Amino acid sequence: MFKLTAKALACALSLSIAGMAQAAEPIVIKFSHVVAEHTPKGQGAMLFKKLAEERLGDKVKVEVYPNSSLFGDGKEMEALLLGDVQLIAPSLAKFEQYTKQIQVFDLPFLFQDMAAVDRFQQSPAGQGLLKSMEDKNITGLGYWHNGLKQLSANKALREPKDARGLKFRVQASAVLEEQFKAVRANPRKMSFAEVYQGLQTGVVNGAENPYSNIYSQKMHEVQKYITESNHGVLDYMLITNTKFWNSLPEDVRGELGKIIVEVTAEVNKQADALNQGDKQRILDAKTSEILNLTPEQRGMWRDAMKPVWAKFEGEIGADLIKAADAANQ
Ligand code: LMR
Repeated sequence: MFKLTAKALACALSLSIAGMAQAAEPIVIKFSHVVAEHTPKGQGAMLFKKLAEERLGDKVKVEVYPNSSLFGDGKEMEALLLGDVQLIAPSLAKFEQYTKQIQVFDLPFLFQDMAAVDRFQQSPAGQGLLKSMEDKNITGLGYWHNGLKQLSANKALREPKDARGLKFRVQASAVLEEQFKAVRANPRKMSFAEVYQGLQTGVVNGAENPYSNIYSQKMHEVQKYITESNHGVLDYMLITNTKFWNSLPEDVRGELGKIIVEVTAEVNKQADALNQGDKQRILDAKTSEILNLTPEQRGMWRDAMKPVWAKFEGEIGADLIKAADAANQ
């Protein structure tokens, strides 16, 4: 009898030690992304790691994987849903499989500047989109800015007709495909990690990206011209796996939520300066010429590309497009 009790006691003791060891294990948060560290998203991921580990001590360990080193485009969303990563921040162009509404951000010439993008993101309609994929196990935690996109090519693009027949790399977005078809160019979907090589080998002739992505991927070394077109936005939604997020201990989730608010504000404050710094670095490198459009030339691009809005009005919703347009004030 005594023997049995002692055995049971030992067993209980070892179980409780194992439990203590388990409780002491930090929660590992893997943050995977496709860009370089010296970009708005790259900096945001590192700041998140720093603050989370500083403030949550041993409770949390954040591992950041930049440059598609863990998962690239096309795989990172799947990995999030499988629980192989816990945080990602895909560009808003990469959500069409999960919700058609977020396509609103890809409409060309919709936002007049980043302040308008920001106003729309903070509006009830914009905030609503963060919660629009919870039935698919995806929770949006915030919007991170990169910035407005510039066209690049080995040919000077001043008017829409200059793009005719050229092959442009696009993100996985039907809207962006249509945008290039509207100027009679040939869009080609390609993951971000492949763009430099695609441009270098001539698989594609041009692309569209904010300066920070152009510079950090050295695209300016394989593109003779960059047209400062500011024709669309490339921003991100920081997302997590809804079940993972809801399973976090309340204190940890609360603190991480506060940190995300802080990091988001910092990313969005710094993004423009980072892009402007990279524009200057591109100018200094003298590998490509930056072309400025006259108001008339920009108007021609807008007139050529804007019909794309009508094509997607049914999927996105006229009200949402209206709400985004209203953010221009
Ligand atoms: C792209 O594929 O061009 C961008 O979405 C990459 C990024 O995350 O900024």
